[in-house]
Amino acid sequence: MRSTSLHENVDSDKFRRTLGRFLTGVTVVTTTDRASRRWGMTANSFTSVSLDPPLVSVCISKRAGSYKAFCESSSFAISILSEFQEDVARKFASPRDDKFEDLELLDADLRAPVVDGCTAWLVCDTYRQIDAGDHVLLLGRVEVCDSSPHAPLGYCEGNFLALTAEARGEVPAAQTAGREIVAGWLVEQGDKVALVNESHEGTIVWSLPMGPLTSGRTMSEALNISGKCVLGCAVEPTFLYSVIDLSETHTCHVYRAQLLDHLEESPRLRLFRKQDIPWAGISDRSVITILKRYFSEKATDRFGVYLNVGQGKIAQITGEQVWDPTAWE
Ligand SMILES: Cc1cc2nc3c(=O)[nH]c(=O)nc-3n(C[C@H](O)[C@H](O)[C@H](O)COP(=O)(O)O)c2cc1C
Repeated sequence: MRSTSLHENVDSDKFRRTLGRFLTGVTVVTTTDRASRRWGMTANSFTSVSLDPPLVSVCISKRAGSYKAFCESSSFAISILSEFQEDVARKFASPRDDKFEDLELLDADLRAPVVDGCTAWLVCDTYRQIDAGDHVLLLGRVEVCDSSPHAPLGYCEGNFLALTAEARGEVPAAQTAGREIVAGWLVEQGDKVALVNESHEGTIVWSLPMGPLTSGRTMSEALNISGKCVLGCAVEPTFLYSVIDLSETHTCHVYRAQLLDHLEESPRLRLFRKQDIPWAGISDRSVITILKRYFSEKATDRFGVYLNVGQGKIAQITGEQVWDPTAWE
């Protein structure tokens, strides 16, 4: 079937397919209108334009619900999404009214909303608006920007992609050929622990907060980054608690940890007392076991470390002290 011709040599399907091969990041571009209403859309047309002056651009479809708001506003923000924000990308890629509902925003006095947890962000004054076919090209002069250690989300041929640790240059290729290590967090605040949920085909599934353990030059850095990415605040690992297999390709090192900052609860991330844990919503048996063991051990303040080796084995920790290498020289 022949599709609409854009030009004698270019049909629209071919053009879309060709553009789709361009690997991009994913951004959410936002603005605020005169009535203080926030607008935003997922956009991968973002690109850097000039270093001096600092200019970036993004193309907004004239058919987008937010088109008028972007044209009338004198500023906009670009949030470059991190690998954990595919749900945000999907939400902002549809014309819905509740895009900002339950969305954590960066807590700053910025002229346009910035999505919290993104890998980098820029707030711009609109520098030029250039009519460009069925889009308008917004050139923005960057007024303020910042970046975080979160790995970016990618997009190609209609699919969202996370960079492999190898592609990020964080581990040698040989390591990624084998199992991947994920950090799981048994985060304690008083008598509560943090759990996260995801929606799987309409069902809410709870688990321990987990994320890749692949960033950073040392284990300590990797744990800091992982904790911050997954929980949005700084944590201090107390001790290794469990080593479990999540799947044929992923092993999870679960750490007990104390919060160093205030943990912002959100619909996705909540703190639970033992009696409030949504047991029926936890699908992974090993996570249930870890939580039950944790609450039982917490009652006597004697903790074990579990290894998923053979039948599985557990050793008790009788005390913890700061490592003194000179004692062994
Ligand atoms: C990965 C991805 C990238 C997109 N990039 C753009 C873009 O650069 N410009 C654009 O106008 N729409 C883009 N879209 C489509 C808009 O996000 C979509 O039309 C959205 O519904 C617009 O929101 P609004 O109608 O509420 O303004 C993209 C969608 C996806 C999934």
